[in-house]
Amino acid sequence: MKAIICDSFGLPSNLKYQEVADPVPAADEVLIQIKACSVNFPDTLIIQGLYQYKPNFPFSPGSDVAGVIEAVGENVKGFKAGDEIVALIPHGGFAEKVVAKAKTCIPKPPGMDFVQAASFLMAYGTTYYALKDRARLKEGETLLVLGASGGVGLTAVELGKLMGARVIAAASTPEKLELCKQYGADETILYNDEDLKKRTKELTEGKGANVIYDPVGAHYAEPALRAIAWEGRYLVIGFAAGHIPKIPLNLALLKSCQIVGVFWGAFAQKFPGKNMQYMMQLLMWFNEGKINPHIHATYPLAEAPKALEEIMARKVKGKVVIRV
Ligand SMILES: NC(=O)c1ccc[n+]([C@@H]2O[C@H](COP(=O)([O-])OP(=O)(O)OC[C@H]3O[C@@H](n4cnc5c(N)ncnc54)[C@H](OP(=O)(O)O)[C@@H]3O)[C@@H](O)[C@H]2O)c1
Repeated sequence: MKAIICDSFGLPSNLKYQEVADPVPAADEVLIQIKACSVNFPDTLIIQGLYQYKPNFPFSPGSDVAGVIEAVGENVKGFKAGDEIVALIPHGGFAEKVVAKAKTCIPKPPGMDFVQAASFLMAYGTTYYALKDRARLKEGETLLVLGASGGVGLTAVELGKLMGARVIAAASTPEKLELCKQYGADETILYNDEDLKKRTKELTEGKGANVIYDPVGAHYAEPALRAIAWEGRYLVIGFAAGHIPKIPLNLALLKSCQIVGVFWGAFAQKFPGKNMQYMMQLLMWFNEGKINPHIHATYPLAEAPKALEEIMARKVKGKVVIRV
């Protein structure tokens, strides 16, 4: 099969498109013919050796796949060859085939195409867990979303509205904010030009945002936290801007607020039943037309490095997807 291969850490231009052996499923695994794999920010980190874990070389990046089962291991129940599924895998998705633990696979809804399906699990899964479980977002509360047009950010705008919040979207360009409005944002902040803390306070009559969703970090984090409401919840999602901020803890004391970590991948592993329940809710909302991933662009497998470069250049709105 063909695959995008990382054989030493480096930039996307360091990746190779080459022929490799087909993977073989273990007893509890399925072999998937990949139809689409979305690109997530962690894919840009894993190839550079900057992610939380480092796979052995050679490996393919890509964790959010949709495809058709080609074969199943001897202990697999509930799936068979020909089933259309979505799966979240540690890596290996930028390839024609991959093996996945059967327990991590979910049947693909018939009304969802492969590109949409590959864009779904990580982005919506992370955000629903963050807003429902970690922030306990309530109807009528104000939600401030940083990096609001990005892969996870746009799902926070969309799910925040669906859960009854008033949503303030913050992003770096007017075009990005326009997309956020289309996804339901009530207010917008151009955070590279406007004062994030001051604008958030103005838009909330001085009270601040009840919940802040932060996938960006760096110099955006502290001004956002300074604009949190009394007993607010600050969701630590990620650090796409590159730098992990250090926060003065007196800010948490002064607002009686919580700084809350969110690690959806670990949650999904530790609590597969609860995660599946959340996924079923999300898939139901998709089937009802209430949520819909925004696809910025698709690329053929051989051009996957370009897709990674686009994410790193901050050019993507919503999701970019590799078609296999
Ligand atoms: N905690 C979890 O369980 C979990 C799960 C999934 C993802 N994440 C993390 O969430 C973050 C976002 O992931 P994603 O897939 O949504 O990424 P993405 O689509 O690339 O979105 C990231 C956003 O960050 C903003 N940004 C600011 N500075 C940037 C820079 N120097 N380079 C790139 N983007 C920059 C961009 O918006 P503006 O241009 O508008 O600033 C961009 O839209 C990542 O750190 C990822 O690791 C965490």
